[in-house]
Amino acid sequence: MDEGSFSRVGVVGLGTMGAGIAEVLARGGLAVVGIEVNQDALERGRGHLEGSTGRAVKRGRLTEDAQREILGRVALSTDFADLGDCDLVIEAVPERLDLKRKVFAELDRVCRDDAVLATNTSSLSVTDIAVTTGRPTKIVGVHFFNPAPVMKLVEVIATVLTEPDAVARVAALVKGLGKTPVTIGDRAGFVANRLLFGYLNQAAGMLESGHATRDDIDAAMKAGAGLPMGPFTLMDLIGLDTCLEVLDAIYAESRDRRHAASPVLRELVTAGLLGRKTGRGFYSYDASGETEGAADEGAPPVVGIVGVGPLADALAALCDRAGAQVR
Ligand code: 3HC
Repeated sequence: MDEGSFSRVGVVGLGTMGAGIAEVLARGGLAVVGIEVNQDALERGRGHLEGSTGRAVKRGRLTEDAQREILGRVALSTDFADLGDCDLVIEAVPERLDLKRKVFAELDRVCRDDAVLATNTSSLSVTDIAVTTGRPTKIVGVHFFNPAPVMKLVEVIATVLTEPDAVARVAALVKGLGKTPVTIGDRAGFVANRLLFGYLNQAAGMLESGHATRDDIDAAMKAGAGLPMGPFTLMDLIGLDTCLEVLDAIYAESRDRRHAASPVLRELVTAGLLGRKTGRGFYSYDASGETEGAADEGAPPVVGIVGVGPLADALAALCDRAGAQVR
């Protein structure tokens, strides 16, 4: 089977992840049907799609014609019946098992019998979702990473019930979209989150214990480990509620204290400070999404150097070149 075995793909839920997935599919030349619960949510989804492709146009990565073509491939609707002729439907609604089960019951009803149904869950068991449908052999996980249009990895999750052909077809589709598929079994955190969240949680723990500041931990991992973002910037991007859900799910399975969510994370989520999407998490963001008050903004740092001599001179020159005020 090749990626051509799917030509019309539905996406249910057009939040950050769902809209990103719809964009990836449409960029890959597929006809996409995007579904949301009501007109307001649908308009927000349209906004995500226009915003993300618009940014690519501004950066010279996409022509306006190509943007129009991509957006033209996405049909938006609030009616599940419009998914009736899709070969594959990807669900990307909020991470609540009751909600996902409701969506899958509806998909089971409206989709063709041979359609493959996929969930983009990052913390729930794919098997738990599969067993409530009438077609457990056709249920897979397809786990995209945020931001979906940029991140290359897609985890394809097979339960013990999934037929191998459905998994192979989805993995081929992912490859055809220019992404890197990794096929794995249904275990909490799959591969990437299982490893990544031990690290993110430890960063939160280090902040909590006063080991280092938020800015220094972020700077250390960015400048010292070559990561594109420090752990707090990344948690704010992922969403602290999602971080907590993922950690709780992994901890429930692993019982490993590395995955026992740090209290500061739970506290911020309880307070409604969920990261970028609410304007505040570990950092605060202005209306345009720019970080406010991070260490590398505002007045230059002042560095005092005690002592004289060639080493002090060299240090002073180095700090000066880096934009610091040297005393
Ligand atoms: N949507 C679409 N495109 C985006 C985007 C978005 N939200 N954010 C950034 N981009 C694109 C930009 O347009 C740009 O594209 P170009 O190179 O073609 O012009 C490119 O990404 C780089 O963006 P920027 O120059 O604005 O900024 P950065 O160089 O800082 O990159 C980043 C931004 C891609 C987000 C980068 O910082 C990064 O890779 N961060 C780590 C992200 C990560 O680890 N994600 C995984 C999280 S775990 C997860 O999602 C699993 C879940 O289950 C929790």
